[in-house]
Amino acid sequence: MMEIKVLTLFPNFFDSFKETSIIKRALDKESVQFTAINFRDYTLDKHNNVDDTICGGGAGMLLACQPIVDALKANTKANSKVVMLSPQGKKMTQKLVRELAEHDDIVLLCGHYEGFDERIRDYVDEEVSIGDFVLTGGEPAALVLSDAIIRLRDGVIRSDSHEDDSFENGLLEYPQYTRPVEYDGKKVPDVLMSGHHENIRKWRLKESLRKTYLRRPDLLDGRTFTSEEQKLLQE
Ligand code: ADE
Repeated sequence: MMEIKVLTLFPNFFDSFKETSIIKRALDKESVQFTAINFRDYTLDKHNNVDDTICGGGAGMLLACQPIVDALKANTKANSKVVMLSPQGKKMTQKLVRELAEHDDIVLLCGHYEGFDERIRDYVDEEVSIGDFVLTGGEPAALVLSDAIIRLRDGVIRSDSHEDDSFENGLLEYPQYTRPVEYDGKKVPDVLMSGHHENIRKWRLKESLRKTYLRRPDLLDGRTFTSEEQKLLQE
């Protein structure tokens, strides 16, 4: 059983996520619980504000400590992993997703406006960015991260359907085809129709290596190739 709680000013943002496809099935089966909590509910400000102007001047507003820290205190346990979504965070990778998916209680903190009072970071275990671009808030990032975590949890999808995923073995996925065997003059590679499992496995590994080399050579930096991979690369 895993629980993900998202602290956000816009809990409705996650409604369709909870109601759709594989994620809906995981939540229905109660292998994962997903709750969106409005941290405005925790503000002690008489006007219900959660943000304030920036000390030292500057345009915009910042999320203040009190509502967020109180929301965190009310929604975390000793074993909770608190993750702040921010463009300043560690870049999201499948490795990071795998690490986070080990935790049974994850609290995701979404910012808005110009960002967080720096002191909030003292209450956070990990700061994650989903890429080098700036979103209007952490919500789309929390959704992306939650999706990637939930699909790894046991029972959500067949494990052999993610073991070959792009990035699970450090390589992009090999090309895949379904019927018809010929479409608009384009044929499915013969080896895939041969029934020869060993040749198919080798072809897939080689195509994974080829695709990764052509599209994402950065993924191969520092990789230790198996002897089989080295042989395929020389062919
Ligand atoms: N909030 C704004 N931009 C973001 C990003 N790139 N990743 C995570 N959270 C964000």
